[in-house]
Amino acid sequence: MIDESRFRQVMGHFASGVSVVTSAHEGKLVGLTVSSFTSLSLSPMLVLVCVNLQSASHATLIAAGQYAVNILSEEQEYLSRRFASHESEKFTVGTYTLSPRGLPLLNGTLAQIECRLHTTLPGGDHTIFIGEVVAASCSEGRPLLYYRSGYHHLGV
Ligand SMILES: Cc1cc2nc3c(=O)[nH]c(=O)nc-3n(C[C@H](O)[C@H](O)[C@H](O)COP(=O)(O)O)c2cc1C
Repeated sequence: MIDESRFRQVMGHFASGVSVVTSAHEGKLVGLTVSSFTSLSLSPMLVLVCVNLQSASHATLIAAGQYAVNILSEEQEYLSRRFASHESEKFTVGTYTLSPRGLPLLNGTLAQIECRLHTTLPGGDHTIFIGEVVAASCSEGRPLLYYRSGYHHLGV
């Protein structure tokens, strides 16, 4: 049998990028750090993230019906830590820009993907959010990586 801590330890061997999912509804801005971001489909263009049912952002993501995925650069570990916390003020002045769709986009990220919520699916203690990509942009830089419970940079 495998217990939860062993499961976490084994899954930690899968290296990922780090992104922050952001959204806004009725003037309330929410955001959380996620490593569960995945490209799902090309036609239509779909991406997915898995969000814990306990996340304070969960209800707002559904109510807003849209969200952005901000892919962090290696200089933005502080944003990953901030958006993985329970701080009430995650959005400080100058760190984000509202898109024409009203989504908060984090400044200086490697890529920004705006999604319309397409479907939610149950996934145990998480909800799988499938989003249809409505806008996307990227810039030069190097990614922040997460591996075995720690932050890393590309070695090349
Ligand atoms: C590197 C990293 C990856 C994470 N990935 C996820 C994830 O994929 N899904 C999730 O629900 N939480 C994930 N978390 C945890 C959330 O960021 C954390 O619970 C956060 O406090 C939730 O914020 P909220 O309660 O304000 O929504 C991750 C945390 C870190 C540090």
